[in-house]
Amino acid sequence: MEKLEQAKKVILAKFGEMPKTVITLGSGLGSLLEKIEIESEIGFSEIPHFKSATVAGHSGKLVVGKLGAKRVACLKGRLHYYEGYSMEEVVFPFRTLAWCGAETFLLTNAAGGIHPDMKPGELMLITDHINLMGDNPLIGTNHEKLGTRFPDMSQVYQSGLRNVILEIAHRQGLKLRQGIYAGVYGPSYETPAEVNMLRRLGADAIGMSTVPEAIALNHMGRKIVAVSCITNLAAGVGEGSLNHEEVLAAAKLIQESFSLLVKEFCNVVSK
Ligand code: HPA
Repeated sequence: MEKLEQAKKVILAKFGEMPKTVITLGSGLGSLLEKIEIESEIGFSEIPHFKSATVAGHSGKLVVGKLGAKRVACLKGRLHYYEGYSMEEVVFPFRTLAWCGAETFLLTNAAGGIHPDMKPGELMLITDHINLMGDNPLIGTNHEKLGTRFPDMSQVYQSGLRNVILEIAHRQGLKLRQGIYAGVYGPSYETPAEVNMLRRLGADAIGMSTVPEAIALNHMGRKIVAVSCITNLAAGVGEGSLNHEEVLAAAKLIQESFSLLVKEFCNVVSK
């Protein structure tokens, strides 16, 4: 709690009031930042207890500015569990922004398609997740000020907000599929046998992020919308091998339509 207060103090001193809406940009989706009329920004290294992101394509900073008519905060460069950070460190920036007053979080990520409908270049609205990370950010002492010891997880990705973004995508003529995201530890991609198992378990797409953040924000009672950018077919679904460059390149191709979707979503939900 003390760490949260210290980080909050620095962030609010920098930005004044915290915007109500926060966008997190996943692998290769950073160009949305170009659409933001930046008011102010701060590197993760300048915020107490924020760790710096290490993976290529994820430089860590918090940006506040106008996206269209609305003021939003944007986290560029999330921390991943596979980088060796603890779950608590991974979710700390999200808890902090929620603690500063943010209410709605749009989480984005790059994911591999498992369901045959989830092809590279498609966007998938996450309806639910399967936590296969073998850990949980709520393990340890529970701080009642943040949330309850045993939080309900039956509406992590609230249907109300999902309908809002689905309606916007429909208006924009953008195909936005819906499905279940399996969050895995990584950093190695899956074997075809693992993907086959996950398909049978009900996963439609797979990735190495988002689940810890969603658990921590749900614990704090925040609203969450999460969109996966399908960057590749998961191992064994298609032919060929996987690499990070392919994932980044595929994310780049979707960025433009994705940015329009996010912009309009913020316009509708932000005050
Ligand atoms: N598996 C896990 N994580 C990923 C993938 C994948 O196929 N694509 C992008 N992130």
